[in-house]
Amino acid sequence: MTDHAVALHSRITDRTALVGVIGMGYVGLPLALAFAERGIRVLGFDVDQAKVEALGRGDCYIKHLDGARLARAASTGLLAATSDFGRLAEPDAVLICVPTPLTRQREPDMTFVVASAEQVAAALRPGQLVVLESTTYPGTTDELVKNILERSGLCCGADFFLAFSPEREDPGREDFTTTTTPKVVGGVDPLSGDLAQSLYDQVIAKTVRVSSARTAEASKLTENIFRAVNIALVNELKVVYDRMGIDVWEVLDAASTKPFGFMRFNPGPGWGGHCIPLDPFYLAWKAREHGVSTRFVELAGEVNVRMPEYVVEKLMLALNRRERALKGAKVLVLGIAYKKDIDDPRESPAFEVIEKLLHLGADVSYHDPHIPEAPRMRSWPDLPPMRSVELSVETLSAADAVVVVTDHSAVDYGQVLAQARLIVDTRGVYRAPHPNVVKA
Ligand SMILES: NC(=O)c1ccc[n+]([C@@H]2O[C@H](COP(=O)([O-])OP(=O)(O)OC[C@H]3O[C@@H](n4cnc5c(N)ncnc54)[C@H](O)[C@@H]3O)[C@@H](O)[C@H]2O)c1
Repeated sequence: MTDHAVALHSRITDRTALVGVIGMGYVGLPLALAFAERGIRVLGFDVDQAKVEALGRGDCYIKHLDGARLARAASTGLLAATSDFGRLAEPDAVLICVPTPLTRQREPDMTFVVASAEQVAAALRPGQLVVLESTTYPGTTDELVKNILERSGLCCGADFFLAFSPEREDPGREDFTTTTTPKVVGGVDPLSGDLAQSLYDQVIAKTVRVSSARTAEASKLTENIFRAVNIALVNELKVVYDRMGIDVWEVLDAASTKPFGFMRFNPGPGWGGHCIPLDPFYLAWKAREHGVSTRFVELAGEVNVRMPEYVVEKLMLALNRRERALKGAKVLVLGIAYKKDIDDPRESPAFEVIEKLLHLGADVSYHDPHIPEAPRMRSWPDLPPMRSVELSVETLSAADAVVVVTDHSAVDYGQVLAQARLIVDTRGVYRAPHPNVVKA
């Protein structure tokens, strides 16, 4: 071990290390809280001044996080935030949790990771540990990030240390939390891996060490590709069984009784969130560089991307049976978050459904108990501003159709069934056959 490594290791294990977290979003904030709640000081960095100010007041801007936890961490002084990136020299360890979206050409958009690495490089001092947490293609940490950091003149593995450790945050999940979910760690070199693992060992119940940063990067992509492909599979089966007059939900309930060799995934209106629709394409892009193709990834994309159109077609057919055209029909979309009980609309298939409905001339409104106002969406820039309407007898009975896109628990589905003329259900909310319910 170098002197720098020894000093850093002792600061980590005696919990006097200062942890910096870049990107205080859905991943960075719970992670920062996890350290603060174990008595380890955290300094959060974000370009979003509103978040920095909220953290300064101890205010929580992520709905599913317990605000009292944040207020406590802020009041004890263990959690602070800044937008002054010159202060990046202060932390002993810097964890990078910035977005990794796709470009319009569906290629990795590394601008956030590159900007963060450049900010870290500008302040880098000997003895710092840097860990990338953003989901990305194998090679990002030991090619891209390492090169940027070494432009500082410091040497990775000797002066500073670099690792990758993917986040497994699942917003809204209560049975596994940031600290009880095992965390994979891989260093660019063994010493970097050891130091990163010892840092996470302070707060995470179980760390899983792998041989390299690339393996850690690939493990995260594998988890998300597994989900993307299985979601596509059940979505395809939904369409097939529907044609055969078989209810996919009943099929899945039955298949799930097998105690081994089957894992349930549910069909839906498509795929959504920051991860599942995007991350698989990070691997597809990198695979092309190696001259290999990722057919499962492409196929999963093809099937899942088609789902919103399938939902709209089912709605159109159901209206047609009632001698109504979609053009001019009043359609109420229930739920625009990408999954139930959270306030995150990113990449939600609801926007694709709404855009298609508007394009076909429907009069669209939405209700989402967690999203009072639809934010401007990068992938749907032309959507008009919309606000959530109240779910009342008036709105329900005025609608020609209600489309359940997200099955939030806060919605009274009995009331919807009692008052809506037609329901297109993409989430299996209504299991029993009903003349006013169409499963899509
Ligand atoms: N949200 C999830 O459930 C989840 C789960 C696992 C992994 N991930 C991965 O974690 C990463 C972060 O995702 P997220 O959901 O937390 O995103 P997010 O958008 O919620 O948060 C990112 C934060 O980074 C900030 N930011 C952007 N550029 C910055 C910069 N240059 N310097 C400092 N701050 C900057 C933004 O203002 C924002 O607050 C992504 O790679 C994502 O794929 C997300």
